[in-house]
Amino acid sequence: MLPTQPIGVFDSGYGGLTVLKDLIHKLPAYDFVYLGDNARAPYGTRSFESVYRYTLECVQWFFKMDCPLVVLACNTASAKALRTIQQNDLPNINPNNRVLGVIRPTTEIIGTFTKTNNVGILATNGTVQSNSYKIEIEKFFPSVNVFQQACPMWVPLIENNEHNNAGADYFVKEGIDKLLSQSRNIDTILLACTHYPLLRQKIEKYVSADIKIISQGEIVANSLADYLKRHPEINERCSKHGKVVFYTTDSTEDFDNHAAIFYGKTVKSNHLAI
Ligand code: DGL
Repeated sequence: MLPTQPIGVFDSGYGGLTVLKDLIHKLPAYDFVYLGDNARAPYGTRSFESVYRYTLECVQWFFKMDCPLVVLACNTASAKALRTIQQNDLPNINPNNRVLGVIRPTTEIIGTFTKTNNVGILATNGTVQSNSYKIEIEKFFPSVNVFQQACPMWVPLIENNEHNNAGADYFVKEGIDKLLSQSRNIDTILLACTHYPLLRQKIEKYVSADIKIISQGEIVANSLADYLKRHPEINERCSKHGKVVFYTTDSTEDFDNHAAIFYGKTVKSNHLAI
């Protein structure tokens, strides 16, 4: 049976499952519906127009599923589509519903982790090109310098389950070296792609122990819990039976085989033709 008014969690594919895991941990009573747009992933290399169009289509589907609130658990979608959806589309489609992203909650807090005021961002091409992290961090922490590095090979390595193999070391080291060569003073690195926590062990190999590596899942979960407290009108509409359902726009068999790597548990997904 489907949850009645679940919180929607969206990603281009599997990465958002790393965030969903933390959302469920923080908010176990709530119902969630997860959608991975695997058929059109990766988003990280696509144009603004494509990412916006795909994300909007998926948000509209979540609203048909009766979700009062949708979390874009994808940095690329948050960077390229969220603002337009919030400002231009939501007032027309459904002004009572909400769409939130992962960039704002992260940038609100990231400045508290750095002592040197130098933060490194590792993300997809799309997120880096959007400059969203630089722009948002500047608003909350004007004295923090932001250095960005796109790691276009990291998502394919993870999606192909090659991230624990020796070949992945080359690309992980390359990304880290390029980031750290931009400043000797970086003491905090943000994994600003929901896939990257899976590379954490390898990343730690190439980063000195005094540099903090930050993943977003827990930050986003805390921020959502806080949002629901501050917005009882949304909170009341979210059903709470502790149910989670999964949808993918591509093969359910592939989704179920891969999902456990990200989610930590096996799942049984449904197919969405979009
Ligand atoms: N999950 C996406 C993100 O957080 C990256 C995957 C993709 O390129 O589709 O940016």
